[in-house]
Amino acid sequence: SEKIVIGMAGFGTVGKAVYTILQRNKDLIESRCGKPIEIKTVVCRHTERARSQLSSSVTVSDNSLTICQDPEINTVIEVMGGIEPAKTLILKSLEGGKNVVTANKALLATHGEEIFAQAKKFNRSVFFEASVAGGIPIIKALREGLCANRIRKITGILNGTCNFILSSMHQKPISFDEALKEAQKLGYAEADPTFDIEGFDTGHKLTILSALAFGTALQFKPENVCGISSVTQNHIKMANEMGYVVKLLATAEIVDQSVRLSVAPTLIPKDTFLANVNGSMNAVQIESDALGTSLYYGAGAGGEPTASAVLADICDIARKHHCTSCSTEQGQPLTLIDKSILKF
Ligand code: HSE
Repeated sequence: SEKIVIGMAGFGTVGKAVYTILQRNKDLIESRCGKPIEIKTVVCRHTERARSQLSSSVTVSDNSLTICQDPEINTVIEVMGGIEPAKTLILKSLEGGKNVVTANKALLATHGEEIFAQAKKFNRSVFFEASVAGGIPIIKALREGLCANRIRKITGILNGTCNFILSSMHQKPISFDEALKEAQKLGYAEADPTFDIEGFDTGHKLTILSALAFGTALQFKPENVCGISSVTQNHIKMANEMGYVVKLLATAEIVDQSVRLSVAPTLIPKDTFLANVNGSMNAVQIESDALGTSLYYGAGAGGEPTASAVLADICDIARKHHCTSCSTEQGQPLTLIDKSILKF
Protein backbone atom coordinates (compact mmCIF):
# COMPACT_ATOMS: atom_id res chain seq x y z
CA SER A 1 0.00 0.00 0.00
CA GLU A 2 1.09 3.57 -0.55
CA LYS A 3 0.83 4.77 3.01
CA ILE A 4 1.84 3.43 6.43
CA VAL A 5 -1.28 3.68 8.60
CA ILE A 6 -0.44 2.85 12.21
CA GLY A 7 -2.45 1.59 15.14
CA MET A 8 -0.39 1.93 18.31
CA ALA A 9 -1.10 -0.07 21.47
CA GLY A 10 0.41 1.60 24.53
CA PHE A 11 0.91 5.27 25.32
CA GLY A 12 3.41 5.19 28.16
CA THR A 13 7.01 6.43 28.07
CA VAL A 14 7.79 4.75 24.73
CA GLY A 15 4.44 5.28 22.99
CA LYS A 16 4.47 9.00 23.76
CA ALA A 17 8.02 9.28 22.46
CA VAL A 18 7.09 7.49 19.20
CA TYR A 19 4.35 10.09 18.66
CA THR A 20 6.63 13.01 19.59
CA ILE A 21 9.49 11.98 17.28
CA LEU A 22 7.08 11.31 14.43
CA GLN A 23 5.61 14.82 14.87
CA ARG A 24 9.05 16.45 15.10
CA ASN A 25 10.83 14.56 12.28
CA LYS A 26 7.89 13.59 10.06
CA ASP A 27 9.20 15.11 6.80
CA LEU A 28 12.67 13.70 7.35
CA ILE A 29 11.45 10.18 8.16
CA GLU A 30 8.96 10.13 5.28
CA SER A 31 11.51 11.37 2.77
CA ARG A 32 13.99 8.73 3.93
CA CYS A 33 11.61 5.79 3.74
CA GLY A 34 9.62 7.08 0.78
CA LYS A 35 6.09 6.83 2.19
CA PRO A 36 3.67 8.95 4.21
CA ILE A 37 3.30 7.72 7.81
CA GLU A 38 0.22 8.36 9.89
CA ILE A 39 -0.80 7.28 13.39
CA LYS A 40 -4.52 6.63 13.05
CA THR A 41 -5.42 5.06 16.40
CA VAL A 42 -3.87 4.89 19.87
CA VAL A 43 -5.09 2.25 22.31
CA CYS A 44 -4.28 2.73 26.01
CA ARG A 45 -5.73 2.48 29.51
CA HIS A 46 -5.87 6.19 30.39
CA THR A 47 -7.73 7.46 27.36
CA GLU A 48 -8.46 10.96 28.68
CA ARG A 49 -4.82 11.65 29.42
CA ALA A 50 -3.82 10.40 25.96
CA ARG A 51 -6.61 12.42 24.31
CA SER A 52 -5.19 15.63 25.78
CA GLN A 53 -1.72 14.86 24.39
CA LEU A 54 -2.65 13.75 20.87
CA SER A 55 -3.82 15.74 17.86
CA SER A 56 -7.55 15.54 17.16
CA SER A 57 -6.94 13.48 14.02
CA VAL A 58 -5.86 10.48 16.18
CA THR A 59 -8.59 8.15 17.46
CA VAL A 60 -8.16 7.09 21.09
CA SER A 61 -9.62 3.85 22.43
CA ASP A 62 -9.19 1.50 25.38
CA ASN A 63 -9.96 -1.61 23.34
CA SER A 64 -7.06 -3.17 21.43
CA LEU A 65 -9.46 -4.92 19.03
CA THR A 66 -10.15 -1.47 17.56
CA ILE A 67 -6.75 -1.80 15.92
CA CYS A 68 -6.94 -5.43 14.72
CA GLN A 69 -10.35 -4.93 13.16
CA ASP A 70 -9.67 -1.68 11.30
CA PRO A 71 -8.96 -2.57 7.64
CA GLU A 72 -7.36 0.83 7.05
CA ILE A 73 -4.59 0.13 9.57
CA ASN A 74 -1.75 -1.80 7.92
CA THR A 75 0.89 -1.53 10.66
CA VAL A 76 0.64 -2.18 14.40
CA ILE A 77 3.06 -0.84 17.02
CA GLU A 78 2.89 -2.76 20.30
CA VAL A 79 4.51 -0.83 23.15
CA MET A 80 2.16 -1.84 25.96
CA GLY A 81 4.42 -4.56 27.41
CA GLY A 82 3.39 -7.69 29.31
CA ILE A 83 2.11 -10.98 27.87
CA GLU A 84 -1.63 -10.35 27.54
CA PRO A 85 -3.36 -8.60 25.88
CA ALA A 86 -0.18 -7.88 23.85
CA LYS A 87 0.11 -11.45 22.56
CA THR A 88 -3.50 -11.69 21.34
CA LEU A 89 -3.22 -8.26 19.76
CA ILE A 90 -0.11 -9.28 17.80
CA LEU A 91 -1.49 -12.68 16.68
CA LYS A 92 -4.79 -11.14 15.54
CA SER A 93 -3.04 -8.26 13.80
CA LEU A 94 -0.88 -10.67 11.79
CA GLU A 95 -3.93 -12.74 10.94
CA GLY A 96 -5.63 -9.56 9.77
CA GLY A 97 -2.76 -8.89 7.36
CA LYS A 98 -0.96 -6.20 9.37
CA ASN A 99 2.78 -5.94 9.95
CA VAL A 100 3.88 -5.60 13.57
CA VAL A 101 6.59 -3.65 15.38
CA THR A 102 7.08 -4.57 19.02
CA ALA A 103 9.38 -3.55 21.87
CA ASN A 104 8.14 -6.46 23.98
CA LYS A 105 11.16 -8.54 24.99
CA ALA A 106 9.32 -10.50 27.68
CA LEU A 107 6.72 -11.61 25.13
CA LEU A 108 9.21 -12.51 22.39
CA ALA A 109 11.52 -14.39 24.76
CA THR A 110 8.68 -16.57 26.02
CA HIS A 111 6.12 -16.80 23.14
CA GLY A 112 8.29 -15.72 20.22
CA GLU A 113 8.13 -19.08 18.42
CA GLU A 114 4.34 -18.87 18.19
CA ILE A 115 4.44 -15.24 17.11
CA PHE A 116 6.99 -15.79 14.32
CA ALA A 117 5.11 -18.91 13.15
CA GLN A 118 2.00 -16.75 12.83
CA ALA A 119 3.97 -14.12 10.89
CA LYS A 120 5.18 -16.81 8.50
CA LYS A 121 1.70 -18.29 8.11
CA PHE A 122 0.15 -14.97 7.11
CA ASN A 123 3.24 -13.74 5.27
CA ARG A 124 3.60 -10.68 7.47
CA SER A 125 6.56 -9.20 9.39
CA VAL A 126 7.34 -8.81 13.08
CA PHE A 127 10.13 -6.32 13.71
CA PHE A 128 11.63 -5.96 17.20
CA GLU A 129 14.67 -3.67 17.18
CA ALA A 130 13.41 -1.87 20.30
CA SER A 131 13.20 -5.07 22.32
CA VAL A 132 16.95 -5.29 23.02
CA ALA A 133 19.29 -2.51 24.16
CA GLY A 134 16.80 0.31 23.51
CA GLY A 135 18.03 2.59 20.75
CA ILE A 136 21.22 0.68 19.87
CA PRO A 137 20.59 -0.99 16.48
CA ILE A 138 21.87 -4.34 17.75
CA ILE A 139 19.24 -6.47 15.99
CA LYS A 140 20.10 -4.87 12.67
CA ALA A 141 23.80 -5.27 13.44
CA LEU A 142 23.39 -9.02 14.00
CA ARG A 143 20.88 -9.59 11.23
CA GLU A 144 22.48 -7.40 8.58
CA GLY A 145 25.98 -6.20 9.43
CA LEU A 146 27.22 -9.53 10.81
CA CYS A 147 25.24 -11.73 8.44
CA ALA A 148 28.37 -13.30 6.97
CA ASN A 149 29.96 -14.04 10.36
CA ARG A 150 29.99 -17.03 12.68
CA ILE A 151 29.35 -15.60 16.12
CA ARG A 152 31.47 -16.96 18.96
CA LYS A 153 30.39 -14.86 21.90
CA ILE A 154 28.06 -12.05 22.90
CA THR A 155 28.63 -10.10 26.11
CA GLY A 156 26.27 -7.33 27.10
CA ILE A 157 25.04 -4.82 29.61
CA LEU A 158 21.40 -4.99 28.61
CA ASN A 159 19.38 -3.44 31.42
CA GLY A 160 19.46 0.34 31.88
CA THR A 161 17.84 0.21 35.30
CA CYS A 162 20.41 -2.22 36.75
CA ASN A 163 23.30 -0.40 35.17
CA PHE A 164 22.01 2.92 36.50
CA ILE A 165 21.66 1.44 40.00
CA LEU A 166 25.13 -0.15 40.03
CA SER A 167 26.83 2.91 38.50
CA SER A 168 25.14 5.20 41.05
CA MET A 169 26.24 2.94 43.90
CA HIS A 170 29.82 3.12 42.59
CA GLN A 171 29.68 6.90 42.25
CA LYS A 172 28.24 7.78 45.66
CA PRO A 173 27.56 5.96 48.94
CA ILE A 174 23.84 5.46 48.34
CA SER A 175 21.82 2.33 49.01
CA PHE A 176 20.31 -0.03 46.44
CA ASP A 177 16.78 1.20 47.23
CA GLU A 178 17.64 4.87 46.82
CA ALA A 179 19.26 4.16 43.44
CA LEU A 180 16.25 2.12 42.27
CA LYS A 181 13.82 4.93 43.16
CA GLU A 182 15.88 7.35 41.07
CA ALA A 183 15.90 4.92 38.10
CA GLN A 184 12.11 4.61 38.32
CA LYS A 185 11.74 8.39 38.43
CA LEU A 186 13.79 8.70 35.24
CA GLY A 187 11.49 6.25 33.39
CA TYR A 188 14.01 3.42 32.90
CA ALA A 189 12.37 0.69 34.98
CA GLU A 190 9.64 -1.71 33.87
CA ALA A 191 6.14 -1.26 35.32
CA ASP A 192 7.17 -4.04 37.72
CA PRO A 193 10.86 -3.37 38.51
CA THR A 194 11.31 -6.97 39.73
CA PHE A 195 11.87 -7.89 36.08
CA ASP A 196 14.78 -5.46 35.95
CA ILE A 197 16.51 -6.08 39.26
CA GLU A 198 16.11 -9.87 39.34
CA GLY A 199 17.76 -10.18 35.93
CA PHE A 200 14.70 -11.43 34.01
CA ASP A 201 14.64 -8.48 31.62
CA THR A 202 18.33 -9.05 30.85
CA GLY A 203 17.58 -12.78 30.36
CA HIS A 204 14.74 -11.98 27.95
CA LYS A 205 17.02 -9.76 25.87
CA LEU A 206 19.84 -12.32 25.89
CA THR A 207 17.38 -15.01 24.73
CA ILE A 208 16.52 -12.83 21.71
CA LEU A 209 20.18 -12.07 20.88
CA SER A 210 21.06 -15.76 21.17
CA ALA A 211 18.19 -16.73 18.88
CA LEU A 212 19.50 -14.31 16.27
CA ALA A 213 23.17 -15.21 16.61
CA PHE A 214 22.98 -18.93 17.26
CA GLY A 215 19.51 -19.99 16.11
CA THR A 216 18.50 -21.08 19.63
CA ALA A 217 14.82 -21.28 20.56
CA LEU A 218 12.93 -18.33 22.01
CA GLN A 219 12.32 -20.15 25.27
CA PHE A 220 13.54 -18.11 28.20
CA LYS A 221 14.45 -20.22 31.25
CA PRO A 222 14.41 -18.24 34.48
CA GLU A 223 16.53 -20.78 36.39
CA ASN A 224 20.06 -19.66 37.08
CA VAL A 225 19.40 -16.03 36.21
CA CYS A 226 20.88 -14.00 39.00
CA GLY A 227 19.90 -10.36 39.49
CA ILE A 228 21.35 -7.53 41.55
CA SER A 229 18.86 -7.10 44.40
CA SER A 230 21.30 -8.45 46.98
CA VAL A 231 24.22 -6.24 45.93
CA THR A 232 25.15 -3.92 48.79
CA GLN A 233 27.32 -0.82 49.17
CA ASN A 234 29.82 -3.12 50.88
CA HIS A 235 30.19 -5.35 47.79
CA ILE A 236 30.67 -2.28 45.63
CA LYS A 237 33.34 -0.87 47.97
CA MET A 238 35.28 -4.14 48.04
CA ALA A 239 35.10 -4.52 44.25
CA ASN A 240 36.32 -0.96 43.85
CA GLU A 241 39.29 -1.48 46.18
CA MET A 242 40.33 -4.55 44.18
CA GLY A 243 40.21 -2.64 40.87
CA TYR A 244 36.85 -3.90 39.61
CA VAL A 245 33.36 -2.62 38.95
CA VAL A 246 30.20 -4.67 39.41
CA LYS A 247 27.98 -5.01 36.31
CA LEU A 248 24.97 -7.17 35.56
CA LEU A 249 26.49 -9.06 32.66
CA ALA A 250 24.70 -11.16 30.05
CA THR A 251 26.78 -13.72 28.19
CA ALA A 252 25.98 -16.12 25.34
CA GLU A 253 28.86 -18.19 24.08
CA ILE A 254 29.69 -21.40 22.33
CA VAL A 255 31.14 -23.87 24.81
CA ASP A 256 31.76 -27.47 23.71
CA GLN A 257 29.58 -26.99 20.64
CA SER A 258 26.58 -25.79 22.57
CA VAL A 259 25.38 -22.32 23.49
CA ARG A 260 25.74 -21.34 27.11
CA LEU A 261 23.73 -18.40 28.40
CA SER A 262 24.25 -16.65 31.70
CA VAL A 263 23.03 -13.54 33.52
CA ALA A 264 24.82 -12.58 36.72
CA PRO A 265 26.42 -9.69 38.61
CA THR A 266 30.05 -9.84 37.49
CA LEU A 267 33.34 -8.24 38.53
CA ILE A 268 34.86 -6.44 35.54
CA PRO A 269 38.38 -4.93 35.51
CA LYS A 270 38.13 -1.12 35.61
CA ASP A 271 40.19 -0.50 32.49
CA THR A 272 37.90 -2.41 30.10
CA PHE A 273 35.24 -1.05 27.75
CA LEU A 274 32.28 -2.67 29.52
CA ALA A 275 33.41 -1.41 32.94
CA ASN A 276 33.09 2.16 31.67
CA VAL A 277 29.51 1.87 30.46
CA ASN A 278 27.68 3.95 33.07
CA GLY A 279 24.22 5.25 33.97
CA SER A 280 21.36 3.82 31.93
CA MET A 281 23.64 3.18 28.94
CA ASN A 282 23.78 -0.31 27.40
CA ALA A 283 26.62 -1.96 25.55
CA VAL A 284 27.17 -5.16 23.60
CA GLN A 285 30.45 -6.79 22.64
CA ILE A 286 30.36 -9.38 19.87
CA GLU A 287 33.12 -11.76 18.90
CA SER A 288 32.77 -13.21 15.42
CA ASP A 289 35.07 -14.90 12.94
CA ALA A 290 35.28 -12.38 10.12
CA LEU A 291 34.90 -9.04 11.89
CA GLY A 292 36.65 -9.98 15.14
CA THR A 293 35.54 -8.01 18.20
CA SER A 294 32.93 -5.32 17.61
CA LEU A 295 31.36 -2.97 20.18
CA TYR A 296 27.91 -1.37 20.27
CA TYR A 297 27.11 1.37 22.78
CA GLY A 298 24.20 3.73 23.43
CA ALA A 299 21.06 4.54 25.38
CA GLY A 300 19.43 1.26 26.36
CA ALA A 301 16.30 2.57 28.04
CA GLY A 302 14.03 5.59 28.13
CA GLY A 303 11.40 7.06 25.83
CA GLU A 304 13.11 8.61 22.82
CA PRO A 305 16.01 6.14 22.50
CA THR A 306 13.57 3.20 22.47
CA ALA A 307 11.16 5.03 20.16
CA SER A 308 14.07 5.68 17.81
CA ALA A 309 14.36 1.90 17.33
CA VAL A 310 10.57 1.49 16.91
CA LEU A 311 10.55 4.07 14.13
CA ALA A 312 13.58 2.48 12.45
CA ASP A 313 11.46 -0.67 12.14
CA ILE A 314 8.56 1.34 10.71
CA CYS A 315 10.98 2.57 8.05
CA ASP A 316 12.04 -1.03 7.33
CA ILE A 317 8.39 -1.91 6.76
CA ALA A 318 7.89 1.13 4.53
CA ARG A 319 10.89 0.04 2.49
CA LYS A 320 9.25 -3.38 2.19
CA HIS A 321 11.81 -5.34 4.14
CA HIS A 322 10.42 -8.61 5.40
CA CYS A 323 10.88 -10.31 8.76
CA THR A 324 9.22 -13.58 9.70
CA SER A 325 11.76 -15.16 11.99
CA CYS A 326 14.13 -14.44 14.79
CA SER A 327 17.21 -15.99 13.26
CA THR A 328 18.43 -14.93 9.84
CA GLU A 329 16.19 -13.86 6.96
CA GLN A 330 16.39 -17.45 5.74
CA GLY A 331 15.42 -18.83 9.12
CA GLN A 332 18.80 -20.56 9.43
CA PRO A 333 20.95 -20.27 12.53
CA LEU A 334 24.10 -18.24 11.92
CA THR A 335 26.08 -20.77 13.89
CA LEU A 336 25.18 -24.43 14.11
CA ILE A 337 25.12 -25.79 17.65
CA ASP A 338 23.72 -28.66 19.62
CA LYS A 339 20.44 -27.21 20.85
CA SER A 340 19.87 -30.03 23.31
CA ILE A 341 22.41 -28.72 25.80
CA LEU A 342 21.05 -25.20 26.19
CA LYS A 343 21.85 -23.90 29.60
CA PHE A 344 20.92 -20.82 31.56
N1 HSE B 1 13.46 -1.59 31.94
C1 HSE B 1 14.33 -1.71 30.82
C2 HSE B 1 15.73 -1.30 31.24
C3 HSE B 1 13.83 -0.83 29.70
O1 HSE B 1 15.88 -0.74 32.33
O2 HSE B 1 16.67 -1.54 30.50
C4 HSE B 1 14.48 -1.09 28.38
O3 HSE B 1 14.22 -2.39 27.90
